[in-house]
Amino acid sequence: MRLLVLMGVSLLGVILASTASLVVLSQPSEAEAKSAFERLGCITCHRSGGIGNSWDEIVSRYRASAGKYDSLDEFVMAEVYQEVKSMLGVEVRSWSELFKTMAQYSGKRPDDPDVKTVQSFLASLLLGAQEPGATTPPTTLTTLPQVATPQVTTPAEERGVSFLVVALAALVIVAAIVLAAFWLARG
Ligand code: HEC
Repeated sequence: MRLLVLMGVSLLGVILASTASLVVLSQPSEAEAKSAFERLGCITCHRSGGIGNSWDEIVSRYRASAGKYDSLDEFVMAEVYQEVKSMLGVEVRSWSELFKTMAQYSGKRPDDPDVKTVQSFLASLLLGAQEPGATTPPTTLTTLPQVATPQVTTPAEERGVSFLVVALAALVIVAAIVLAAFWLARG
């Protein structure tokens, strides 16, 4: 009996740990990425009227390009390289080089967690995989013919969905723990 309880509890531990890692590994939300972008000082140049595109312009452009390129490096060569070269006089030939350069312009290190947040959020937009486990809807959306409302899912809705998933997972875990506690008390 004791052994069974022990096994049950360790199983719960495993479930808890995997849920936690799932949450950690999930893509940053747009709100998180946007505030990181502001904290980093990218908005010195990237704002309306600045020499770079504003956050909103970048995000809507990347949303529109979701799934268009096989790789992020390909995207950089096709759509960013020329622009950066003519405006800043530097050559960026890959996705990582782009963020390394941009981090330097803001006086930050390329491995600054905020840079990573912005980088992975924008990458998830381009790859059309913004929500973990929601790979099918974006593909369907991007293959739809051009309609007046290109943005079907708003960030708030996306956020709502992932919160719901996490909340549900938490509920299941709590229920399991309560059951285990009952079992322990009986034994
Ligand atoms: C010195 C001004 C300057 C700073 C500071 C700067 N950028 Fe840029 N950035 C530019 C310019 C100019 C371009 C090329 C024009 C454009 O695409 O917006 C560019 C391009 C980009 C692009 C490609 C944009 C696109 O439309 O595809 C990204 C992504 C980017 N920057 C991210 C950042 C991030 C993240 C930071 C902060 C860590 C940052 N930038 C800081 C000037 C700057």
